[in-house]
Amino acid sequence: MPERWRHAMERSLYGPGGFFVSGSGPAGHFRTSAHASPAFADALLRLVERVDAALGHPGVLRVVDVGAGRGELLRALSAALGTPPAAARPSASSGPSSAGPPPSASVPLASRVRLTAVEKAPRPADLPDGIDWLGEIPDGITGLLVATEWLDNVPLDVTVHTAEGWRYLLVDPATGAETVGDPVEPADADWLARWWPAPDAGADGIGPAGSGFLAARSAEGSSLTARSGSGRPELPTAVRAEIGRTRDDAWAGAVGKLDRGLALAVDYGHLRDGRPVDGTLTGYRGGRQVPPVPDGSRDVTAHVAVDSVASAGARVARCAYDLGSQREALRALGADGGRPPLSLAASDPAGYVRALAAASAVAELTDPAGLGGHWWLRQPVGVDPGWLMAR
Ligand SMILES: C[S@@+](CC[C@H](N)C(=O)[O-])C[C@H]1O[C@@H](n2cnc3c(N)ncnc32)[C@H](O)[C@@H]1O
Repeated sequence: MPERWRHAMERSLYGPGGFFVSGSGPAGHFRTSAHASPAFADALLRLVERVDAALGHPGVLRVVDVGAGRGELLRALSAALGTPPAAARPSASSGPSSAGPPPSASVPLASRVRLTAVEKAPRPADLPDGIDWLGEIPDGITGLLVATEWLDNVPLDVTVHTAEGWRYLLVDPATGAETVGDPVEPADADWLARWWPAPDAGADGIGPAGSGFLAARSAEGSSLTARSGSGRPELPTAVRAEIGRTRDDAWAGAVGKLDRGLALAVDYGHLRDGRPVDGTLTGYRGGRQVPPVPDGSRDVTAHVAVDSVASAGARVARCAYDLGSQREALRALGADGGRPPLSLAASDPAGYVRALAAASAVAELTDPAGLGGHWWLRQPVGVDPGWLMAR
């Protein structure tokens, strides 16, 4: 029975037996920055240190990973911290985190940091005890809230532009076949008018809509691909738009959970001036880009309208934000991917090989055509942005 994409995505990703809540988890199907290299967690640790300093070294500094997968990033961050994070306490799932001991710069960060994963999937059996695992974002966070490749999986509606204006696309969950449904509701029409304007006259009514599947980014063989999905068909089959209102609401809700600190979203996306004319909806399974059939067997994802999300977050944070590339952000955090000097190869061959491997891992994270092209949205709350946004 055809239904709107938003409902189909919700059920296929998060319903009983859904793609993200059962099975091996995201890391079994595609590659994100969190999986690519420990260098990502190392860089985030430097950001955590900046947040800690900006907050005056609070007694409990919380790091909350929203859409945590199977906890890969927090495991790596825990390792980068060097010592186990503060053990989970009974009050972990409720109450403000600022209720800890008074601020103290003399207590090492590793003893004050509290790592919290927020996930719809169940807690992995092998997750270290020191990492909390919650189904909802806790209130009253003092620290860093991070969401890597979360927003692109927040379900959304997809529309097609017809001679009568924007109409919802309906999808058959079993096959992915699309049909044209009702005109969009007023709130969605408003969002589209502001963030994804209708094409110029002459582009209307191209259709019927295709499957929405973008030409696959090269994903030959069994190795996993990152989900940036930069491939585009030569000609659009329809003028489509993906209504980012649900992502705006999700992000504004997340930012609203911070008392003080920084909210960081890392994701692939686009800006108003460069929306893809045919949308970005696609699927991933087993390391390959596949058509976006919402049957629970695969990831279904669409790029994020990051400017709209930033604006929604700013209304809650009431503070300037920064939107830039992962490449710039990681470089500013000291991960530049530079090759080690050749002279090291003669004096310390093993060290040279290690340094080379580390450099190539960072190169993947900063590649502008891949993970380095992801957006970093930094949204400070209740702190001087200067501490957190330095490039
Ligand atoms: C693409 S994966 C990203 C995993 C991890 N952050 C990474 O970068 O590797 C998206 C994850 O977000 C989770 N997720 C989506 N919506 C969520 C929500 N409202 N609350 C908690 N987790 C959510 C999904 O279950 C999935 O594990």
